[in-house]
Amino acid sequence: MTQYKVPVLPGDGIGPEIIAEGKKVIDAAGERFGFDVEWIEYPHGADHYLETGELISEETLKELSGYPAIYLGSIGDPRIAPGVLEKGILLTARFYFDQYINLRPIKLLEGVWTPIKDKTAKDIDFVVVRENTEDFYIGIGGRAKKGESKDLLEVKRTLYSAKFGLDIETDSEEIGYQIGLISKEGTKRVIEYAFDLSENRKKHVSSVDKANVLSDIYGFWREEFNAVAAAHPDVTTDFNFVDAITMWFVKNPEWFDVVVTPNMFGDIITDLGAMIQGGLGLAPGGNINPKGTSMFEPIHGSAPKYKGQNKVNPIATIWAGAMLIEQLGEKEAADTIVNAIQKNILDGKVKTYDMGGKNTTSDVGDDIARIIKGE
Ligand code: IPM
Ligand code: MN
Repeated sequence: MTQYKVPVLPGDGIGPEIIAEGKKVIDAAGERFGFDVEWIEYPHGADHYLETGELISEETLKELSGYPAIYLGSIGDPRIAPGVLEKGILLTARFYFDQYINLRPIKLLEGVWTPIKDKTAKDIDFVVVRENTEDFYIGIGGRAKKGESKDLLEVKRTLYSAKFGLDIETDSEEIGYQIGLISKEGTKRVIEYAFDLSENRKKHVSSVDKANVLSDIYGFWREEFNAVAAAHPDVTTDFNFVDAITMWFVKNPEWFDVVVTPNMFGDIITDLGAMIQGGLGLAPGGNINPKGTSMFEPIHGSAPKYKGQNKVNPIATIWAGAMLIEQLGEKEAADTIVNAIQKNILDGKVKTYDMGGKNTTSDVGDDIARIIKGE
């Protein structure tokens, strides 16, 4: 029997409840397909932080880097200021393990309600490949009070006077700024991943940017996209400004196959994607480093108000678990999990409140595990 060791960070809020169902379903798939997973639990998250002051240590990260895949519930807690846990644990892990791909399938399963009238499962089936380590997420920025902001405003004044002949204030009460940066290597590798992925799909890749305004950063993105596209003459392409793609996701989702996007735009458009595939309870994601340590999680947050109620939908997490075992090489088991999710939905008997049902989180996990085991 194949043995896997998988670190699991249930995290905050509803994290432990949904992860319990994800593990249950993977264990069921293991029974059927002849593998066994040893789950190695890690306590990181709000409680651990409040007790020990530790977010996640370099030592823990180093230890985790010995594994190919991590299973993550959700991070975020109202007792702690926004950003502390998210940046200190989630983003730290994405960066530390150089998980440069954030893979987010946008697939409407049969029988799931979508808010888009007249669209069905055959219309909504694409994948967003979100760059996951650069752009406005690099964490370079700052604040400056009057008197301290002169240098930055001086830059702005020089630009404005050169371009428009305008004379603007060189000091302000207070400023805030954040820098977006993309590198040639960082851009090329994620776009290459998107094209490779499309080779096994419908051979169409859509690029997202805002090259019409943020032309330094996203003009560069387009150049790299074109360079990679030239090496894939069999793949068709299109370019979308991020504002426009939000419109097309709603009006013509059937146009898309693989969508590749810089980090921040990817964050925004995948919440929209999640909604058209039936809601956040159904949207999985993977933070992938093809040669290193990947990390799989639902794309939703920790939903603190539902914590401990055994109420929320575990499907996004179970689906993320399918992506995890696919990454480990268990493709057949992964497909079986997704098919079992589909069957649970089509049966329509065991479902959580968000899908119009009255069942619990664990009822849904039990049902999907039962389908997999063929009971
Ligand atoms: C996501 C989340 C994260 C992000 C936050 C929690 C840091 O919104 O995974 O989409 O912005 O990437
Ligand atoms: Mn997000």
